[in-house]
Amino acid sequence: MQLTIICGSHRNESQSERISKALTDRVNELSLFDSVENLSLAGNPLPLWDESVWHGDEKWRAQLAPWRAALKASDALVVVVPEWHGMVPAGLKNFFLLFGPNELGHKPALITAISAGQGGSYPIVELRSSSYKNSRICYLPDHLLIRHVAKAFTGDDPDGDQHLWQRTDYCLHLLREYGSALVKVRDSGVVDHKQFRNGM
Ligand SMILES: Cc1cc2nc3c(=O)[nH]c(=O)nc-3n(C[C@H](O)[C@H](O)[C@H](O)COP(=O)(O)O)c2cc1C
Repeated sequence: MQLTIICGSHRNESQSERISKALTDRVNELSLFDSVENLSLAGNPLPLWDESVWHGDEKWRAQLAPWRAALKASDALVVVVPEWHGMVPAGLKNFFLLFGPNELGHKPALITAISAGQGGSYPIVELRSSSYKNSRICYLPDHLLIRHVAKAFTGDDPDGDQHLWQRTDYCLHLLREYGSALVKVRDSGVVDHKQFRNGM
């Protein structure tokens, strides 16, 4: 079972990156998956979508190949998403234009939203309402929401950290179980992205 953690912040040394690393370490401590891959949007490594992606342009093919390989090999995903002006960062929306059912389809994903303050709920709602239709990514009903992120998992707030770790461990265990369960769906022969290329 392979897990991929997608860090949705474009900023270098972002809080999303710090939380992605904390989750990676936790998954390894708990031995929940055989391997954990990290894909980060820091520094905007993926160009903005243009139509030549659909025509198999060689430049795009080479650029996307390592991302496609990592995502295809994944059985489960964590999407770490900061709230930027009450939205999902544009680079993460671009990610969902570039990768679809071949890489993400019928794979469970744990949303982990990040806010410097009291926010963080808008990007959860946005991902749940707008990133799944064609990709067929399957968000878990539970998600993580890390508010006042600068204090989280730092030891500054031991009670807060304990509560957050309990919730994190619970969600990661759930993700592992959904990961196992959805292999059956993908291998069932029922999934048909040729006839039903896009969701309705
Ligand atoms: C362009 C921009 C807009 C932001 N807008 C919000 C916001 O609407 N709500 C919020 O809670 N935090 C907002 N933040 C603060 C982020 O929550 C904060 O940067 C936090 O560390 C998570 O983002 P990061 O992973 O990029 O560090 C914004 C940050 C940036 C860079």
